[in-house]
Amino acid sequence: MVPFSSLSPLALLVSLSANVVYAAPRSSPLSLSMTLSRRAPEARSPDEIGSWAQAHKANVETKYGNPSSKAKRSSGQNLIVNQKADSSFFGSVAIGTPPVAYDVILDTGSADLWLASSTCTESACEGIATFDSSSSSSFQNKSTEFSITYGSGDAAGTLGEDIVQMAGFSVSNQVFGVCDQVSDGLLNSPVSGLLGLAFQTIASSGASPLWETLASSGAWDQPLMAFQLTRFNNDSKATDLEPGGTFTMGATNTSLYTGDIDYNDIPDNEESYWLQTVSSITSQGSAITISSGSSALAAIDTGTTLIGGPADAVAEIYSNIPNAEAGTGQLEGYYIYPCSTTVNVTMAFGGKSWAISNADFQAEQLNEDTCMGAFFSLTTGNNAPAWIVGDTFLKNVYSVFRYNPASVGFATLSAEALAMNGVNAAVPSATIGSAAATISATATAGTRDANGASIIQSLLSGPALSLLVIAMTIVFSSVCI
Ligand SMILES: *[C@@H]1O[C@H](CO)[C@@H](O)[C@H](O)[C@H]1NC(C)=O
Ligand SMILES: *[C@@H]1O[C@H](CO)[C@@H](O)[C@H](O)[C@H]1NC(C)=O
Ligand SMILES: *[C@@H]1O[C@H](CO)[C@@H](O)[C@H](O)[C@H]1NC(C)=O
Ligand SMILES: *[C@@H]1O[C@H](CO)[C@@H](O)[C@H](O)[C@H]1NC(C)=O
Repeated sequence: MVPFSSLSPLALLVSLSANVVYAAPRSSPLSLSMTLSRRAPEARSPDEIGSWAQAHKANVETKYGNPSSKAKRSSGQNLIVNQKADSSFFGSVAIGTPPVAYDVILDTGSADLWLASSTCTESACEGIATFDSSSSSSFQNKSTEFSITYGSGDAAGTLGEDIVQMAGFSVSNQVFGVCDQVSDGLLNSPVSGLLGLAFQTIASSGASPLWETLASSGAWDQPLMAFQLTRFNNDSKATDLEPGGTFTMGATNTSLYTGDIDYNDIPDNEESYWLQTVSSITSQGSAITISSGSSALAAIDTGTTLIGGPADAVAEIYSNIPNAEAGTGQLEGYYIYPCSTTVNVTMAFGGKSWAISNADFQAEQLNEDTCMGAFFSLTTGNNAPAWIVGDTFLKNVYSVFRYNPASVGFATLSAEALAMNGVNAAVPSATIGSAAATISATATAGTRDANGASIIQSLLSGPALSLLVIAMTIVFSSVCI
């Protein structure tokens, strides 16, 4: 979610689990005697010896904390949970000593990590796992206030620093918010907080985000992270929590997509949100007029459920759908249309054009005949992206967020990925993986970066948006972030 608005009528959260299995120490056999004999060493090539030597050195240096040693490059996967029929997608991180796992929304639309605190007495914190700083021996209190505002509410507390692990990676000094003030509806059980996956420039804490520390340190095989998100919104048997797909750090998972990844650079290298330029939208085969310049900028946001855009472009999308009408009252800014219409909307960001399935366009069924579409009209501040492209779009592609060169890529989902849609199953639980690589963030926490502050303030200056979010919260009584 972009800080300021939660646009998701149906927010859901799921728990994700780290891919890495925690290896229990092997118990030693009680009594076992064996004959030791010396074997002739197998001949190894110079290459084999060289790679063994490199790995050995890196392992020992990591173990004994040589600050200049580069951990072995690697990649890892975190299984996602799909909450409330595609309303939200969550994964898990493990924090502290001993590590405790928490479910967190995976949000490419913001850049802070925060968790509800065990000292939070507000109703929003009831029934969820909360972070108890006194039970982690490695926790350090930064004694700096932290707050972040989304359209659907806010979270506030203090900043702390601790070991944070995810997908087999570990950052030894990750700064995050420990929040004792959390607005109602911001967290849906079992979710305990949010992991921001956008750039440090928009972090309210000023701290380097977990992903950016890992990407910039060279810990990853490739400087990118990728998502495959499942679809359950057209599955009447969907339960609150369903398997949500796959989040991969440091690599793409080639079994989840086919063909090439179509990358488009972040315009002007403006690393804040994961920005893209909307180059074309079609609805029912007709091209929509897209303004140029800043009104074509879009944030690609896993933390937003639907797709918001400028009022005139959104109106034009619906003008091609017979009998579509602007919503009124609590549906102000949204559109309704006959559910029997199969809608085909495509979007492009400079390269290939990607189709949104009818199942995703049809965001809500209001009654037997009337549906609500997934595109809504959005008013953002001057420096904010005009479009927020959320899960409605992202469920239709394999999405890649590349650090260097800074770009977003999309690819066609594989048959294996598509086969996970609507398959009701038990969800992965938050687990603690074993960390393959430990990295230290070099950036220190400070107050909010000036650039971040200006972007967030401008986002907040869109009064229509917050009204919209309040309306949606009432209508769907779900979390909008
Ligand atoms: C950090 O210290 C401040 C006092 O400086 C205290 O109010 C706050 O509760 C502490 N936070 C945590 C998470 O321990
Ligand atoms: C949901 O939508 C997808 C994509 O349009 C379709 O393949 C699938 O059959 C639909 N599932 C149900 C249960 O309607
Ligand atoms: C790729 O994704 C599939 C499906 O989630 C998973 O089974 C597989 O382990 C993943 N591969 C890697 C290398 O992570
Ligand atoms: C959707 O519209 C695009 C653009 O006109 C078109 O190329 C595509 O074939 C359409 N898809 C379907 C399923 O009709």
